[in-house]
This record gives sequence, C-alpha cells and structure tokens, in this order.
Amino acid sequence: MDPSSDKHFRSPFSLSSKNALVLGASQGIGRAIAISLAEAGANLLIASRQEPELEKVAAATRQLGVECHVCRFDISEPEDINKLLEKARSSYDRIDILVNCIGINPKRISFEQTDKNISDLIFKVNLFGAMDVIQAIGKIMINQKKGAIINVTSTAALHGAPTLAPYAASKAALQSLTRTLALEWAQYGVRVNDVAPGYVHTELTHKVWSNSSLYKEITNKIPMRRFALPEEISPAVVFLASDASSYITGSTLVVDGGWTT
Ligand SMILES: NC(=O)c1ccc[n+]([C@@H]2O[C@H](COP(=O)([O-])OP(=O)(O)OC[C@H]3O[C@@H](n4cnc5c(N)ncnc54)[C@H](OP(=O)(O)O)[C@@H]3O)[C@@H](O)[C@H]2O)c1
Repeated sequence: MDPSSDKHFRSPFSLSSKNALVLGASQGIGRAIAISLAEAGANLLIASRQEPELEKVAAATRQLGVECHVCRFDISEPEDINKLLEKARSSYDRIDILVNCIGINPKRISFEQTDKNISDLIFKVNLFGAMDVIQAIGKIMINQKKGAIINVTSTAALHGAPTLAPYAASKAALQSLTRTLALEWAQYGVRVNDVAPGYVHTELTHKVWSNSSLYKEITNKIPMRRFALPEEISPAVVFLASDASSYITGSTLVVDGGWTT
C-alpha cells in the first residue's frame, strides 16, 4: 500500500502539529534547521538578535504552510531570555522541540593570548544563556511529559582544538549538560541529544573557507575533502526532534564528513 494514500499514516519523521523553538535561526545552520523543521511540518518560534534576517526566514517557512513567530533576543541578556520565554508561552500551548543553535567564536587565537572578556562572552552565549533557556523550556516539557531538546555542539568538543580553547571548552560543557539532562529527564519523556557538526560553510567559518590555502590544508584532513553545507546538518536535527528517534537520548550525533573518525 502507498503510505501517502492512507490518511491515518504518519511517518515517524513527521513533525506535523509539533511546535519548535529554534534559537539562532537567523542564518547559517540555524536557518537551515528552521527550514528543515518546517518542511517536516513543525510550527516555529525562531529567535536571535537580527530581526530582519529572522523575518526573512519566517517568510520562507510560512510558504511551506506552517506557523512561524519571531522573537528578537540576545541570549547573553537575562531580560531578553525572559522576553523569549513569554513569547514562547503566548505563541503556543506546548513546546515539543527546542533547538539551541546559538554559538560564537569571535577569534581563533592561542590560549595564552586569549582575552578574558572574550572567554567570558563565549561562555555566556554558548553555555550559560543556553542553560537558562533549556531549564525554563525543560520545565514546560516535564509538565507535558514529552519533549525533545537538541543542542548544536561541535566536533571541537571531542578532540583538542588549538586556537579555539574557550569555544571548544564551552561546547564540551554543553555536551556534558546534554548527557546529564538526558539522564535526569528520561523519566519525564524528555529526550536530550546533541548534533556535533564538523566544518560547515557559514559566517562562523568565513575566515577559514575564504583563505584558499587554509581551506585546502583543512579539507585535506577531511575524508570527504570538503566542508558541509548547512542543509547537510539540519536533517540530523529533524531526526532527533522526531519520533523516529524515540529511543535515543544522551547521544551526540556527529556530522563531520568523517573528520573525527
Ligand atoms: N560553521 C561551523 O563550521 C560549525 C561547526 C561546528 C559547530 N557549529 C555550531 O553551529 C551553530 C551555528 O553556527 P553557524 O556556523 O551557523 O554560525 P553563524 O552563521 O555565525 O550563526 C550563529 C547564530 O547564532 C546567533 N547568535 C549569535 N550570538 C547570539 C546572541 N548573543 N543571542 C542570540 N543569538 C545569537 C546568530 O544570530 P544573530 O546574529 O541574529 O543574533 C546566528 O543565528 C553554533 O552553535 C556553532 O558553534 C558550527
């Protein structure tokens, strides 16, 4: 039987009638995640600092037939986090999926030269702000007795990462948080996983891929000999958000063209 002809058939990968909050959706990997979630049928609330960019992403997702709300917020500002949580509560009666895709690394520099203010900012944005949002949305999911949280971490958390010390440490901490929350919240039906991309063509890696000799040096070490496109990371997030991954929690899904292997 053709499953699409059966109105009762629901693919385990489908996200229709689910509501997703995506942090860091204005560009790059987060933008691709918002669009992939919408393609799978999820309604969205997307958030970051650049409202005009968010509005463009929202327009693209609405064309796919889903609802999409926008919230301008800076994850390093506690007031903004409160505003985001208010917006989440007023937009939807439940939040089924939380994707945290926010991440910064302002500079690649050896640790002895790293400014403490930069390290502090990286941790505030990549870890502490994320913890506040995850705790608040996690409480909502615990009450619902169901939810899926996906953190976008990095392969930099899995190995030594010269010139990226605070970034790699913040991502390793986010992976550790992912595993601990998976254990604490499994009893409530809340799954917590992370996707660890290798090198991806985005603004974050602009200085690397725009330098042809550096790009060649790095891609020579990647078995697939290229960086990923953001659209090659987002399907992994859809999988972890969907019932297709109903028995997966506390996992890191590495999407790196074989880099860490
Ligand atoms: N690109 C890679 O090679 C790679 C590899 C491994 C992991 N990652 C991870 O993947 C995630 C996405 O990275 P990307 O490459 O897509 O980078 P990107 O293009 O620079 O996007 C970063 C996103 O984070 C948002 N953001 C940054 N600071 C914020 C803040 N203070 N408050 C709210 N939102 C903020 C940005 O939105 P606004 O500017 O609108 O605020 C943007 O949407 C990050 O967590 C990154 O660490 C990337």
